[in-house]
Amino acid sequence: QLHQDVNVTFLRANGQKIQTKGKVGDTLLDVVVNNHIDLDGFGACEGTLTCSTCHLIFKTADFEKLPDKASDEELDMLDLAYELTETSRLGCQITLTKDMDGLVVSVPATINDARSA
Ligand code: FES
Repeated sequence: QLHQDVNVTFLRANGQKIQTKGKVGDTLLDVVVNNHIDLDGFGACEGTLTCSTCHLIFKTADFEKLPDKASDEELDMLDLAYELTETSRLGCQITLTKDMDGLVVSVPATINDARSA
């Protein structure tokens, strides 16, 4: 069902919590952009899988429930992200579902724009 609110909290490396909402069908990149969340450099390639700046870290339980596994293209790009973890994904590749309501994701301290590497 589209247009349902999904609560999402972004946890910054400095401990700041940013509580926000997206809609079912939005990507986590959309949530950042639509709510004007100030994450410096985040989403630089606008979701075209060429930057890795939208790197987010999930809790294990949430990570395992994600409906889609990362594509090879996403995994290649994740390799270029700093602070890569076992539960890292690219925010532009994660589409919100109603089940994700209450999701908390961590924003790594360092954002790497692969295009400038
Ligand atoms: Fe660039 Fe996601 S926004 S890879």
